[in-house]
Amino acid sequence: MNTPVPPGDQGAWEGPALQNDAPRSVATRHPSHDPDLRAGALEALCLCDPSAKVLATRALDPLAAADPAWRGTPASGIPGRPDRPVLVAPGKVPQRSIHTPAGRAALLHALAHIEFNAINLALDAIWRFGDMPETFYRDWLKVAQEEALHFELLAAHLQSLGYRYGDFDAHDGLWAMTEKTQGDVLARMALVPRTLEARGLDAAPPIRAKLARAGDHDAAAILDIILRDEVGHVAIGNHWYGWLCAQRGFEPVATYAELARRYQAPRLKGPFNLAARRTAGFSETELQALQAE
Ligand SMILES: [Fe+2]
Ligand SMILES: [Fe+2]
Repeated sequence: MNTPVPPGDQGAWEGPALQNDAPRSVATRHPSHDPDLRAGALEALCLCDPSAKVLATRALDPLAAADPAWRGTPASGIPGRPDRPVLVAPGKVPQRSIHTPAGRAALLHALAHIEFNAINLALDAIWRFGDMPETFYRDWLKVAQEEALHFELLAAHLQSLGYRYGDFDAHDGLWAMTEKTQGDVLARMALVPRTLEARGLDAAPPIRAKLARAGDHDAAAILDIILRDEVGHVAIGNHWYGWLCAQRGFEPVATYAELARRYQAPRLKGPFNLAARRTAGFSETELQALQAE
């Protein structure tokens, strides 16, 4: 199996620079004057050009100060994103056979779009939610930087097939839940990392197998990296969900059911990747509740 080339060796990703970032990337403070990690995350979130967002995310310093009392306001709509892909309703994204090059590219494009949104959701957790321990911000920076790697690997592979990020329509389910939960960090942890990212743990192995069967071993190797890292992202979600439940005196399993109902979270269908979910910190009670739905 070929191992994907490290991103640093791939050269700059030449994705669509469809908008001038200058008017949209102004957060309340400039990073050159304010190295605060949370302010820098908002700057990166506002960037529209994918390669600029990847670079800005990677440039955030895990050792920078992360002030829980900092409050910022985005100068424009978030997340910053390019004009393409065109966003359509989930059912409107065409399904194609993976056995054609265009179909395989469409699948890889859908995954790249998930990763692009995942960069945004991790950056959003850093700037938006104040009054959390500093380790919360550093955990989500680790997620953002790994999502940037996932996006870059997929975008580069897509380019090797003759396509670019933006060439296919995409849907916005991941960001929609990020927006819905913007008022409560507990709901965000419950329904984004522990629900939508956790669904990726179930989805990744069959997609990897399909890509390998189609002979795309580079893509399969990228899926291996993604699955490995996503277990860690879900674990971070589980850790902070548990921490917040303890802080508020909530029982985690019943609270999750209530939040899923209140925010109309998608019902998760099996088969579940129970081994990966256990590694990511779901309890046996939670796994039983999941399978009983
Ligand atoms: Fe990812
Ligand atoms: Fe993730």
